[in-house]
Amino acid sequence: MMLTNDSCYCLRAFVFLLLSICCLEVGSADVQTSLPGELKFAHVIYRHGDRMPVDPYPTDPWNDRKYWPTGWGQLTNRGKLQHYQLGKWLRSRYSSLLDTKFDNEQIFVQSTDVDRTLMSAESNLAGLYEPVGDDVWNAQIKWQPIPVHTIPEKEDAMLAAKAPCPAFDYYLETFKNSDQFQSLLARYKKLFYYLSSNSGRVVKSFIDAQYLNNTLFIETLYNKTLPVWAQKVYGSPELTYASNFAFSINTHTRQLARLKAGPLLKDVLSRLETKHKRQLKPDRNVFIYSAHDTTVANLLNTLKLFQLHSPPYTACILFELRVDDKDAPFVSVFYKNTTAEPLPMDIPGCGVSCPLSKMFQLYDDVLPENWADECKRSTLTMTYEEANLGAATGILIGIIAILLLVSYGLMIYYRRRDYKVHNSYAQMA
Ligand SMILES: *[C@@H]1O[C@H](CO)[C@@H](O)[C@H](O)[C@H]1NC(C)=O
Ligand SMILES: *[C@@H]1O[C@H](CO)[C@@H](O)[C@H](O)[C@H]1NC(C)=O
Ligand SMILES: *[C@@H]1O[C@H](CO)[C@@H](O)[C@H](O)[C@H]1NC(C)=O
Repeated sequence: MMLTNDSCYCLRAFVFLLLSICCLEVGSADVQTSLPGELKFAHVIYRHGDRMPVDPYPTDPWNDRKYWPTGWGQLTNRGKLQHYQLGKWLRSRYSSLLDTKFDNEQIFVQSTDVDRTLMSAESNLAGLYEPVGDDVWNAQIKWQPIPVHTIPEKEDAMLAAKAPCPAFDYYLETFKNSDQFQSLLARYKKLFYYLSSNSGRVVKSFIDAQYLNNTLFIETLYNKTLPVWAQKVYGSPELTYASNFAFSINTHTRQLARLKAGPLLKDVLSRLETKHKRQLKPDRNVFIYSAHDTTVANLLNTLKLFQLHSPPYTACILFELRVDDKDAPFVSVFYKNTTAEPLPMDIPGCGVSCPLSKMFQLYDDVLPENWADECKRSTLTMTYEEANLGAATGILIGIIAILLLVSYGLMIYYRRRDYKVHNSYAQMA
């Protein structure tokens, strides 16, 4: 049978239509498949899901626990569902790295020691590891326990980044005293004054403004009518900028970035290297870290990939390791801050697929050699007053003078004694 021109055209149009639908569907999955090499390892760092306000302001009409069913700062059912869905998405993206059956030697999950991040990790894993086959242990529930590791925040220099670091505090103060920072702050004085006098809480920093913005954001999300004074500023470019800018402060200089997010970046990059060298024990394929908006912003900014914004719920950074057919390792970084496919990040000076060794070179300035040592403050990093150099110099001169006097005295004493000793030996002989 021969096809007429018309039916031929029809067929072609049909194929074209099919192709375009397919291509639309795979859109940015294209970037993923066009990356050179085979996917070997993924490191995922995400923010928790939808939560309640952490700490409403004193004059807040919604400042009552009864309006917030799960409690201050706690994950909500929406938040659980968001992470369950992200878990499903991770299952489809990393099906080549993770068996559907849970295997503790394939995956490791760590969370900051905060209820909402721990619960987010668990919700995420419910989506990633819905029990199948032998994993089904109770026919009533489509869920199985999966380990989530954590350490106390005050000891956590890597993920929570809350372990004390005096050098960081010092550099942060220095940055905040800089002309650049002070003139920006001056521009927001009026806004901060307005916020303070209306909210009943002192708003004197960008972070204070961010906390307030966040409470207003959640109340709006939950359809709670804001007081008129708040309606006037919430959503304004001014408050939004002040709130977003706060996310960049802790990593604003390379020194700050090194001490705040350096341990996390070093942890990730060294694990990619260990994995590639086949030294990872157990030889896992996926690491997942559950953390906060600040973690996501700090890490992106440290990578020089942060565009000023508030990382939304479940915002997720993906580090992916691929090897080409000559076993050369490449790193790609994706940012997924919507339910759509993730954005491939253009690593400055390297592109969307960057040789692993080049990553170490590019970020050498923010990878601490020895974080604990670098956090110790030498007198060089202290101010004149702090180190009390005036008094210290006086004391030092005093000590030297005393030492000189003592040694001079001793010298005279020993000369005489020596003489006597010599004499007595002579007598004995
Ligand atoms: C601040 O408010 C804006 C909306 O005006 C919102 O998009 C943003 O996520 C908020 N930031 C935080 C940290 O809540
Ligand atoms: C707020 O109202 C909108 C529109 O009616 C609705 O879609 C949304 O689910 C509400 N949000 C909450 C948290 O109830
Ligand atoms: C998502 O990330 C991009 C790139 O950093 C940013 O420009 C955009 O504002 C973000 N959108 C949301 C909803 O967070």
